[in-house]
Amino acid sequence: MSITEAAASETTAGTPSPNGTDLLRVEDLVKHFPIKAGIFRHTVGQVRAVDGVSLTIKAGETLGVVGESGCGKTTLGRTIMKLIEPTSGSIVFDGADITSFKRKRMRPVRRDIQIVFQDPYASLNPRMTVRDLGAEPLKIHKLYRRGEGGRRVEELLRTVGLSPEHANRFPHEFSGGQRQRIGVARALALNPKLMVLDEPVSALDPLIRRDMQNEVIRLHHEVGKTMVFITHDLQEALKLGDRILIMRDGALVQMGTPAEVVAAPADDYVRDFVSEVPRSHVLTLSWVMRPARSDEAMTGPEMTPDTIVRDAARRVIDAHDPVRVVDNGQLLGVVDQDDILRVIVAEENVS
Ligand SMILES: Nc1ncnc2c1ncn2[C@@H]1O[C@H](COP(=O)(O)OP(=O)(O)OP(=O)(O)O)[C@@H](O)[C@H]1O
Ligand SMILES: [Mg+2]
Repeated sequence: MSITEAAASETTAGTPSPNGTDLLRVEDLVKHFPIKAGIFRHTVGQVRAVDGVSLTIKAGETLGVVGESGCGKTTLGRTIMKLIEPTSGSIVFDGADITSFKRKRMRPVRRDIQIVFQDPYASLNPRMTVRDLGAEPLKIHKLYRRGEGGRRVEELLRTVGLSPEHANRFPHEFSGGQRQRIGVARALALNPKLMVLDEPVSALDPLIRRDMQNEVIRLHHEVGKTMVFITHDLQEALKLGDRILIMRDGALVQMGTPAEVVAAPADDYVRDFVSEVPRSHVLTLSWVMRPARSDEAMTGPEMTPDTIVRDAARRVIDAHDPVRVVDNGQLLGVVDQDDILRVIVAEENVS
């Protein structure tokens, strides 16, 4: 068994989780939609849109949900926040089992979980100014204070990279990317504990898209938001997610860090799905390191196991002795030029 395989068998058994508490715990979630046919609209079958998904999200984590069109991503996102009632399964949010919460008990939860919809045009009232759009969620939840409310809206606009001068404009006066930012500002208005972003950038052109992705990364790092980021673009999920969840036909195929799914795909479907990903951009040293040989000098530079191969490559190749992979003062393994080149050569064979 290679080091990579050993690490894989260790990590796929129970997905390792970063420090922190579970903000959301979903168990065996199922959502079936009836298929109706004929003039009497009889139910003739069920669409298994979400079919037994279990997951956890830690506070502060970004989970990328990825999969082909129709695999159930949107349904999963909406069922988690009970915009759609689950068929079965349980949802524990912030310590409370909200599975059977009715409308009244859901109200405070609705404040804590906010969604940014894929199509901002459809979700923004065209007759409201940006100021009113930003204030609306605060007003709905009776959090809008005269005087201070206006300042809060301006602050939100700034947070998402718009200027307060934009506040008097209407949605149609913005570009697609800016409109999406207004959607994000609205979601942020209530300072939710969890944000669900359903393909917020897929309708945008590539440049604005990158801009928006960076915005999400910034929110994650600076504001420390916990986010579920839904996308059909694997590269995007890998870029934004601390962990990614791959769905197929309503079921979870694999959930893990980007390095885990790329280095140790759970099955042929995932293997195929991740086959085009440049491995050096995703794999960390923990996946390429090996035990030190007895004749090797232990005087090379030290690096942490979570260093991305691409970021480590130059130093590893320039070092005289193998790089020591050290975590909390403990030597986990070593990496030398050959270990790095193996990854890079394998990558060239892919493309
Ligand atoms: N309200 C509904 N009634 C009946 N079937 C539905 C409903 N909503 C979704 N579905 C079906 O459930 C399955 C999953 O749909 P969903 O929208 O969750 O997929 P998705 O992964 O978000 O797709 P996309 O990437 O195209 O947005 C699809 O087969 C879809 O047709
Ligand atoms: Mg969808």
